[in-house]
Amino acid sequence: MKVKMKRVDEIIERYKGEEGVLIQLLLDIQSEFNWIPHGVIARISEKMRIPTSQIYRIASFYKAMSLNPVGRHIIHVCLGTACQVRGAPKILDRVEENLKIKEGSTTADMRFSLRRVNCLGCCAMGPVVVVDGNYHGKITPAMVEDILEKYE
Ligand code: FES
Repeated sequence: MKVKMKRVDEIIERYKGEEGVLIQLLLDIQSEFNWIPHGVIARISEKMRIPTSQIYRIASFYKAMSLNPVGRHIIHVCLGTACQVRGAPKILDRVEENLKIKEGSTTADMRFSLRRVNCLGCCAMGPVVVVDGNYHGKITPAMVEDILEKYE
């Protein structure tokens, strides 16, 4: 995925010469591109004179930051015990088939990222799929396609 370095430079410019701004700068990069690419880290290091090791340390510590591309929509499929016994593995299979990706990855068009979780605290609704924070409960494999279609 190509990142516009001109845009990166504009964001860096906001903070140049200031101290203690690295977290805010990285959050701005995250919100602009939805992740923090390696090339951008090198650029920040060069322009802000901050070692790349320090930037990686911060970017990997904060959950709000991602060092991998993240899709526009994030799908969480629950594979906790209660959801498993109600057929969650088949739901995950169907989502993977539909998106042609494996759990933990992102579609080539950056539309979806797929993650598995171990209990979302609403076991009675299982199997549960959450897309962008919207809960879909009592899912069957046949419902998967319709749910995904809602998120263009
Ligand atoms: S096991 Fe899925 S919500 Fe609890």
